[in-house]
Amino acid sequence: MKHIFVTGAGGYIGSVLIPKLLDKGYKVTALDRFFFGENKLTAHPSLTIMKQDCRQIKLSDLEGMDAVIDLVAISNDPSGELFQMVTNEINHLARARTARLAKQAGVKRYILPSSCSIYGFQNEDTPITETAKTNPLTTYARANERAELAVLPLADQDFTVTVLRQATVYGHSPRMRFDLAVNGMTYGAWENGVIPLMRNGKQWRPMIHVSDTTDVMCLLLEAEAQVINGEIFNVGTAYGNYQLLELATEIADVLPISVEIKWYGDPDHRSYRVSFDKIKQRLGWSGCFTAADGALDIFQRLSDGTLKKTPETITLDWYQQLVKWHGIIQQTSQNGGMLELQPNEGLTIYRMGTKQPS
Ligand SMILES: NC(=O)c1ccc[n+]([C@@H]2O[C@H](COP(=O)([O-])OP(=O)(O)OC[C@H]3O[C@@H](n4cnc5c(N)ncnc54)[C@H](O)[C@@H]3O)[C@@H](O)[C@H]2O)c1
Repeated sequence: MKHIFVTGAGGYIGSVLIPKLLDKGYKVTALDRFFFGENKLTAHPSLTIMKQDCRQIKLSDLEGMDAVIDLVAISNDPSGELFQMVTNEINHLARARTARLAKQAGVKRYILPSSCSIYGFQNEDTPITETAKTNPLTTYARANERAELAVLPLADQDFTVTVLRQATVYGHSPRMRFDLAVNGMTYGAWENGVIPLMRNGKQWRPMIHVSDTTDVMCLLLEAEAQVINGEIFNVGTAYGNYQLLELATEIADVLPISVEIKWYGDPDHRSYRVSFDKIKQRLGWSGCFTAADGALDIFQRLSDGTLKKTPETITLDWYQQLVKWHGIIQQTSQNGGMLELQPNEGLTIYRMGTKQPS
């Protein structure tokens, strides 16, 4: 039984990936700080949970593992801009360190889930391939690129390293994100019949279903090493390359209600149309789902009440809340508690109806 070490395992992609790995018979160690809640992974005899920071992974944590899938990250552009130093530490430095430790520990395979956002703004006439010059425009995209540059040279015949440049992901996950394009558009349509569309809707952005991108990760665990070693793969499908207005229209058309599209925000400077020929030709993989499938599924879950937009489904807002409350709690807590005090020497504790103070 192969043992897979997954970081960021309680995240949007991780919480879909882990049950798949367990179903396929892998043993899994799932590392996460669980910033978005500890309830995202279901207990399983082959699952070990490590509630730990990725910056403190030790060599011994990785000994005995067969592969690492290093999902951990501050996972979008606005969060990356607000927490720049931390984003570089987690997304770049920690992942580079984990890859080096994995190699030292004798792990055979390391997969870095990066992002197509490192293409930034590109000439849209020709879909860009993995060999195109990158153009990372944000802290998040630059950290991904630096992580790629740090891990790829570690590849050798004993250590298979593969980079996945994922399209923007959509679809339902136990750690739901409504800050992703398809998911956010679907929520807007469900909530008030309006799809919010970042101006001017002509920007190109590739999309992939969370079930499809996690299938690719599973595929890479078993693929021939010589096919994937030292390689970068764009992960998505040709039909998943959308201009955002076209995407909004597809979603509006598939939903069972009447929907209006409304512009918001400033012009979006990121636009990239991506070639997914390599993954199709080398791995024979071409995806299963469309944005319409993902949107309809989310819409139905919202409608039947099994899915809700809770505060932690917007990544940036949630990290801001955590930082704010961390400060407040540090200032106000005493003896490890908030309102209740733990009994200690020299302090007479009484509870209503039990003992009066002397
Ligand atoms: N979701 C997308 O559209 C998308 C697209 C392209 C690439 N990616 C990449 O895929 C990966 C996973 O993305 P996601 O959507 O699942 O993000 P996510 O924010 O849902 O998950 C990231 C997880 O990492 C954990 N984490 C963050 N900092 C940590 C730390 N210091 N130590 C331990 N755990 C920590 C968080 O608790 C969270 O569970 C990221 O690397 C992201 O950049 C995502």
